[in-house]
Amino acid sequence: MSKKTLRSVGIDLGTSTIKISSNNGQSLVKIPSIIGDPNPGWTGMTLDKSLENNLVLEQDGQAFFVGELARLQSEIKRTLASEGKMKSIKDAVIAIKAALSLFIKGDGEQILIATGVPVATSQEEMSTLSKGLSEEMEINVRNDATGESHNYNVNVQKCLVLPEPYGSYYQILKSSGESRAVDAIIVDIGHGSTDILTVYQGRLMRTASGSLEEAVDTLTTRMARTLQDQTGKIIRPFDLMKTIEKNLKAVMVGGQQYDVSEVKEYYIQNISEIIIDETSRLLGTLPPDAWIERVILTGGGAYVFGDVLKEMMWKENIVKSPEEVVVPDNPVMCNAQGFELIAASRMKAEKKKGK
Ligand SMILES: Nc1ncnc2c1ncn2[C@@H]1O[C@H](COP(=O)(O)OP(=O)(O)OP(=O)(O)O)[C@@H](O)[C@H]1O
Ligand SMILES: [Mg+2]
Repeated sequence: MSKKTLRSVGIDLGTSTIKISSNNGQSLVKIPSIIGDPNPGWTGMTLDKSLENNLVLEQDGQAFFVGELARLQSEIKRTLASEGKMKSIKDAVIAIKAALSLFIKGDGEQILIATGVPVATSQEEMSTLSKGLSEEMEINVRNDATGESHNYNVNVQKCLVLPEPYGSYYQILKSSGESRAVDAIIVDIGHGSTDILTVYQGRLMRTASGSLEEAVDTLTTRMARTLQDQTGKIIRPFDLMKTIEKNLKAVMVGGQQYDVSEVKEYYIQNISEIIIDETSRLLGTLPPDAWIERVILTGGGAYVFGDVLKEMMWKENIVKSPEEVVVPDNPVMCNAQGFELIAASRMKAEKKKGK
């Protein structure tokens, strides 16, 4: 019999990518949030033979391409979430199972998962997801490039389901050595939505939390539309994501360069104002004695909107100086890292109980 391995895993199901953290934050993986139908064909021709980029999950006699493989090779594919909501719990379970296979080393591992879902997800959906994952689980995956397959039987002892931004909150508190539940507002600017979560006296405040459709995707969509008007050519917002990530000033369209810095600045300003309005409105629902000590800006959008939002939060009196706004070292992975810490701490507690 193999030795019993205990594993804590943090997962953040985003609209653009699924983030997973394990091995005390040393294993961090990011895969596109896409599931697709299998599309058999020239296997073995790809240079990248990693399981992460060639992931096929088999379940109930059906096969699914997951992540990068689905993005590149599936004809029919679907994203896991849209408009700030999980679309299908079943798909989320498939994605999580596939993601787990990237870490599991052998049969019989005992796993405790903490995962984040968009703030707009209902309590009922959260509990369905939690139940769908807490079980003896059989994971069958195949590497599409090498044909190698792995079959694991693992035991998911528990799957905690929490609102996404809570991961960043926990990570920031732990890494700053804080043991109190500090009152805070966390603004998670993702690809498809901005999620806002308020923690007051250790509680997640429902009326002071919510989500907005305005996020990085809004910026690329508006930029694409403007460029389209200028050039008369079709530009997909998706293709502008790299421009944003690399912070480029110009793009090439039809062999010509177009300066996008002005339109980008304009919409960054515009979208930031919407995020600030909603943040102020939500804060306004807190009782008058509430005192927000921390404002956390997280998610990939913190790279793009961070500076403008800090400045606006200061001007709007949400903070006393722009420096009071905290941005994590790795805003994209921070939720997953925090969830791993939550899973680890729960595992410790369970062990103490003698389970
Ligand atoms: N270094 C970077 N600079 C600028 N933008 C970045 C950077 N890294 C990521 N982004 C942008 O941030 C977005 C992804 O952020 P994130 O991973 O937080 O979103 P998500 O969690 O998938 O989406 P959501 O939270 O809406 O479900 C993408 O649109 C990406 O282009
Ligand atoms: Mg996110």
